[in-house]
Amino acid sequence: MMRWYSRRFSRTVCLWLAFISVTLHLLLVALSPFVYQSSCKPPTSRQTHPYTLRALAYTNDTSTGSDSHASHANQAKMPPDARKVDPSKMDTTRHHKITKMDATKMSTEIGNGPSSPVNMGDRIGRSGSMGSGLSKLDALFSHPLYDVPTLPIPEEDWLMRIKPKVTSGRSTQMWVSDPEIDYDPAHWNSTSDSQPPWLRFHLGISRRQLYPHRDPNMPSLIQQLSKHRIVSAVQKSGGTQLKLVMSFPNYGQAMLKPMKQERDEESNFNLYYFSDFERHNAEIAAFHLDRVLGYRRIPPAVGRLVDVVKEIKDITTDHRLAKTFFTSPVGNVCFYGQCSYYCSTEHAVCGRPHELEASLAVMLPDPSLAKRHSWRSPWRRSYSRSKVAAWETDSQYCDTVKKTAPYDKGTRLVDLIDLTILDFLMGNMDRHHYETFEKFGNNTFLLHLDNGRAFGRHSKDEPSILAPLEQCCRIRRSTLSRLRLLSLPQYRLSDVMRESLSHDPLFSVAPLLSEPHLLALDRRLNVVLQTVRDCQRRQRSRRGEGSDVIYDDINDYKKSVTPVTPAG
Ligand SMILES: *[C@@H]1O[C@H](CO)[C@@H](O)[C@H](O)[C@H]1NC(C)=O
Ligand SMILES: *[C@@H]1O[C@H](CO)[C@@H](O)[C@H](O)[C@H]1NC(C)=O
Repeated sequence: MMRWYSRRFSRTVCLWLAFISVTLHLLLVALSPFVYQSSCKPPTSRQTHPYTLRALAYTNDTSTGSDSHASHANQAKMPPDARKVDPSKMDTTRHHKITKMDATKMSTEIGNGPSSPVNMGDRIGRSGSMGSGLSKLDALFSHPLYDVPTLPIPEEDWLMRIKPKVTSGRSTQMWVSDPEIDYDPAHWNSTSDSQPPWLRFHLGISRRQLYPHRDPNMPSLIQQLSKHRIVSAVQKSGGTQLKLVMSFPNYGQAMLKPMKQERDEESNFNLYYFSDFERHNAEIAAFHLDRVLGYRRIPPAVGRLVDVVKEIKDITTDHRLAKTFFTSPVGNVCFYGQCSYYCSTEHAVCGRPHELEASLAVMLPDPSLAKRHSWRSPWRRSYSRSKVAAWETDSQYCDTVKKTAPYDKGTRLVDLIDLTILDFLMGNMDRHHYETFEKFGNNTFLLHLDNGRAFGRHSKDEPSILAPLEQCCRIRRSTLSRLRLLSLPQYRLSDVMRESLSHDPLFSVAPLLSEPHLLALDRRLNVVLQTVRDCQRRQRSRRGEGSDVIYDDINDYKKSVTPVTPAG
């Protein structure tokens, strides 16, 4: 009798447990679309993403509820002083929420609370996918090291500022930067749809980065670069190789670099780094790698098949360019433009017969609106066949650099090391200068522009690119943690890069990077991590002397992120 009762009792308990479990699952299912929606969907007028609010700030003062249709009624009803509401603060609250939910969701999938990613790796095994269909790239971007709770961005930390301006008796608002310069706002009025993605990109540039993690503007920006009608194509003056500036009907502009080299071709070993070709796929892959590393310091670049005749020859107003078109013996349309390197009939770029692969990178705000400062890299190569640079022979070179402004304070040195790591991974030896936005002084991120000479060789690594890391032995903790994450099998740099690049429009023509190039990334990542370990070993052996290898930039959220311990 007793036994029957207890059996019956345990059956009831089981039933209850099953019921609770089913309810929880249903709840999870019901919640998950919300999580995805809030993080991936482009902002609607109700969301408080900085773009929306900064976009709102841009809206015409004179517009009232009456002249705006339903889809943007919310915006029109915003008081003109909407910009005084700190958009970043509101965004942060929301961001915190998403981060927490994503983190919880992830740990639910992994079956454990926030634990060291190394342990996660053991649990997930080598299958690659994070279970329930979360791709490696999604998993990476959901990791707390990427989904970092951000502090509010003060108004002066945005590159472009919005200032009220009075024109012909009626007050309007327009965006200008320091110093105040007129920028004709006539074409972008209160309709949110009329805010071109390139303008939203410019408005989203801050002291810290070019664009935010999970940027809701990114899909439309990329879509327009790859599909939007081209209304003008002219040569970009300056620079050594052929580049075109393409314009779109909404006044957006992009920099075009044509395909010059097959994907599986390696740079000629007898060419110096400064006479190597620029590669269109390197520009695209560099943008993806920079984002995968969590930097977000390269302007978005996408691949596109351009019609050499309809989209360049027929519409160009550039006579110097127009003069260089010809038809090749097999009937392909070719051109070579005018520049100091490789602009000759022997180095013409040709369509097949009209279609030409190219990279299009969104332009940064014009220097007249946002001035940039160009810095000579202390580890600049000699750019000579016979000369050797000081850093190549002086092993104490970094000690001098560390004492020299602006590397003597702030994050400039570790920012340069970040760039060094990016360049080593993609084999870019051509980094003589880097730029920053002048408005932000010395305390800002470095722009990683001009990456066309990257990804030239996969069979050889170039250790000299790592010289700054090797000689200075300094690295940001956040960078190191992400690099360690990317060395783990469940994220693996080559896998997330392959996946990220598969979203580029040119992927349907051919993968942007060949397999040997992707695999070289993993090999080089290990070299970077080994270099850091060697630094730490050296530091331990002369305890107390010299500075720390790790620059701790994640004190603020240390408690929420368990530091990643080295793999192996
Ligand atoms: C807003 O701009 C669009 C396209 O530029 C134009 O057709 C429309 O008339 C403008 N609306 C207002 C209220 O100015
Ligand atoms: C920024 O660095 C330069 C040296 O490269 C220095 O002359 C200047 O004073 C620095 N600015 C500030 C605000 O520290």
